Amino acid sequence: MATSKNMTRISKGTARDGGVDRERPGAAIPGEDDLSFEGKLRPQLLKEFIGQPKIKEILAMAIAAAKSRGEALDHVLLYGPPGLGKTTLATIIANELGVAFQQTSGPVLQIKGDITAILTNLRNKQVLFIDETHRMQPVLEELLYSALEDYKLDILIGQGPAARTHTMEVQPFTMIGATTRAGLLSGPLRSRFGLVLRLEFYSDADLAYIVKRSAEILGVEVDGEGTMEIARRARGTPRIANRLLRRVRDYAQVRGEGKISLPIAQAALEMLEVDMHGFDEIDRRLLRTIIDKYEGGPVGLNTLAAVLAEEPDAIEEIYEPYLMQIGFLNRTPKGRMVTHLAYEHFGLKKPEPRDGGAQPGLSSAAREAAGVAGEGEAAHRVGATDEREVKEP
Ligand SMILES: Nc1ncnc2c1ncn2[C@@H]1O[C@H](COP(=O)(O)OP(=O)(O)OP(=O)(O)O)[C@@H](O)[C@H]1O
Ligand SMILES: [Mg+2]
Repeated sequence: MATSKNMTRISKGTARDGGVDRERPGAAIPGEDDLSFEGKLRPQLLKEFIGQPKIKEILAMAIAAAKSRGEALDHVLLYGPPGLGKTTLATIIANELGVAFQQTSGPVLQIKGDITAILTNLRNKQVLFIDETHRMQPVLEELLYSALEDYKLDILIGQGPAARTHTMEVQPFTMIGATTRAGLLSGPLRSRFGLVLRLEFYSDADLAYIVKRSAEILGVEVDGEGTMEIARRARGTPRIANRLLRRVRDYAQVRGEGKISLPIAQAALEMLEVDMHGFDEIDRRLLRTIIDKYEGGPVGLNTLAAVLAEEPDAIEEIYEPYLMQIGFLNRTPKGRMVTHLAYEHFGLKKPEPRDGGAQPGLSSAAREAAGVAGEGEAAHRVGATDEREVKEP
């Protein structure tokens, strides 16, 4: 059947991988190398999932309640930047519920028949995981609505005047959607998720835990300081932490005695050109471009993408979230601006604001009215970016 072939087809050619080197040590999207390891390192149960306490609490409660009622869990939407554990959580939810798990992805679903086949073959209370939900075609999304709402599927039989709508029952199920861009989901789809959970970047302490756990699984010896060094440079992202661990392990085996200590970790990460903030070449190029060519910004996303020869989507989804999270970059209505932290990182001094740029004399209300975002808003903006993305002028 065409559909089952579609299901196993790996989604390729989406904007997420456009122009991005997946094997860069600091990149948050998975490379070939990661895919073979991720299965091994992926936590299977909620108690093995490190960090994200709020999400774990909400899920534990909802799962226990659904199980005690003998019902399917409410539909769940997981969103956040790549590599923070969306797929991992989806598999954990199925494991905790003790139900079947089926995975597909937005771009893989091409025709109505793909969705129909999946929905009609659902098993009772199972988890249907749809990755990259925001890349699903609108007509297919609409087909999902009634299935999500009351486990019914409307299908059209025949053509022209003789066409009739036939309503089919589907098994109660839990859809888990994952997306890096919740803002791109249509309102009707979004409103059908009972649980909408946003994954946050991880603290260094949580990442250190993850590195320690992965090192145990991989059988690598690493001391406390070595663990912390890897954690600090992992951009708040477990996937990057695991990748750096593997690269540092290689270095330790070839140049050291196999054990990862602080000097070994530092030397290895230096060789990989991953700096103290976990920035790699593209992050540095992005910040330097705004500083050197646009006097710190504002510069529009498309212009920036063209200068860097990267996809705008990749910049928005992969590089910017972390730079904003740590307060190096702001998204303003006029475009991207770097903050004084970015200047300091490169040992530079932030120049005096230009006319029309941030005007220190203005009150915050006046600055807002003038369309200028202050640095203090960085943290606030991170939380808000997905909901109300700032469009380029
Ligand atoms: N909380 C966690 N504890 C331990 N390991 C984690 C955690 N979160 C993620 N990981 C590890 O990070 C890797 C990447 O996670 P995952 O594939 O779930 O990310 P994702 O959010 O689905 O990314 P993408 O958006 O690229 O699909 C996994 O192999 C997993 O081992
Ligand atoms: Mg995933």
